[in-house]
Amino acid sequence: MFANRREMIALMTAAGGMAGLPGPARAEPGDPVFEAFEAARPEQPWTLGYADAPAAGLDGVAQRLTGRLPEGLEGVLYRNGPGRFSRENWRYRHWFDGDGLVQSWHLEAGEAPVHAARFVETRKWRREEAAGRFLVPAFGSAPPDEEGLSGPDGMNAANTSVMMLDGDLLALWEGGSAWQLDPDTLQSDGPRVWGDGLAGLPFSAHPKVDPDGTVWNFGQDAARNALVLWQIAPDGSLRRADMVGDVPGGMIHDFAVTERSLVFLVGNLRFERMRLPYLESFRWDGSRPMRAIAIDKADWSQRRTWDLPPGFLFHVGGAWERTDGTICLDAAMSGDARFAIGGAYDVMRGVAREETVSQARLHRLVLYPGGRSEQSVFDDGYAEFPQVDMRLTGLERRYTWHVGWQPGQIQGPTDIVRRDLVSGATQRFSHDADVIVEEPLFVPAGPAEGEGWLVHTALNTRAAATELHVLDARNVGDGPVASWRLPYACPLGFHGCWRPA
Ligand SMILES: [Fe+2]
Repeated sequence: MFANRREMIALMTAAGGMAGLPGPARAEPGDPVFEAFEAARPEQPWTLGYADAPAAGLDGVAQRLTGRLPEGLEGVLYRNGPGRFSRENWRYRHWFDGDGLVQSWHLEAGEAPVHAARFVETRKWRREEAAGRFLVPAFGSAPPDEEGLSGPDGMNAANTSVMMLDGDLLALWEGGSAWQLDPDTLQSDGPRVWGDGLAGLPFSAHPKVDPDGTVWNFGQDAARNALVLWQIAPDGSLRRADMVGDVPGGMIHDFAVTERSLVFLVGNLRFERMRLPYLESFRWDGSRPMRAIAIDKADWSQRRTWDLPPGFLFHVGGAWERTDGTICLDAAMSGDARFAIGGAYDVMRGVAREETVSQARLHRLVLYPGGRSEQSVFDDGYAEFPQVDMRLTGLERRYTWHVGWQPGQIQGPTDIVRRDLVSGATQRFSHDADVIVEEPLFVPAGPAEGEGWLVHTALNTRAAATELHVLDARNVGDGPVASWRLPYACPLGFHGCWRPA
């Protein structure tokens, strides 16, 4: 375990790094971002995806639009995403700042889907809810009169993903603790502490689960070119946590595992120096290569590295390793970070523009022993939220599903896409232009890779309502086999997980 846990904690928290930095001056009355967003709402229906959800959450039953629930597809779809952006007429500047709103969709044969949404009651949420205003700096925003940070989880928004672990539901962020929720009621418990001295250490929103149930995760301290690595047993107990250094401070949001390796792609949005809000600590630096790092699962001191063309990514589809050590992976990558440091600010002001919409495309990478690499790209549209048949995590596989959109689509993705990484063949279903699709989650229904269902939510901006769609994962081009619509709209979210009945 750690050589010096206390030092580890001090090193590994963004909060520690930010303590002592001066906060911003109090904003003038009349917040221009809040006012711009409110002014845009009547004319820009897509802004529903970035509007505040009620503090008490939401409860409803979805109405059937078409089809019926496929036999065997019973369980709960959980999703998470930012859902609270403004208090006291002051609005966050960056989409990723909003407090986590966890949603559940209960799917049961012969019944209409039952939906619930609850805010994750982090310490931040409870204090700010009581105060009626934002109190602490967020990832991309510095509220007026903020109080600074009191500890590692002081700014934890728990807003990025969810996972089931041995019966527990965890809401995930990336700069601090996972937050435990009741999987039935969505009531918040508290931060998950994995062991003595480990409270508050960053636990990313993209853990990976090996076929044997072993959970791998990481947390980043970009300021100190370091990562925490986590290995957790299927029963939720900690097997190992430790820090590895010499990882360049490019923002790392996701990673991949193979049977032998933990694989990180370090893009070119690089930590420059600590600033508030935290995102402003990063600057685009295209003068250096993107770095791929494969760390040996069995010996975290052993690594291989590759230099790749400059770029940026949020999400990796998955990876596998050949017997000679060659690593194959796919990822939604772009040549710049225009959405992270542009579009995600724009949407908070009610602005959508071509210049800041992500241009991520699905790339295939082959990392050979000795440092040579190859890249190819699917160039028929943009791609995000790549998904795999998770039974094959770390193993060779053929299919990736993702959301898609085309140049000129500035209000969000409309398409669900299936990619065959071997033949290059593509299936695509395009929803109506006023539907914004969210991450499709693969739910297995048969033994073969890709035999199952794609379950995805979407915001229908014309109907001002959130929808749930189910597609046959092998026949995505045919469109939904079943669809339902809620009587209300939910904010757009990021990631989800499936709990079988
Ligand atoms: Fe993500």
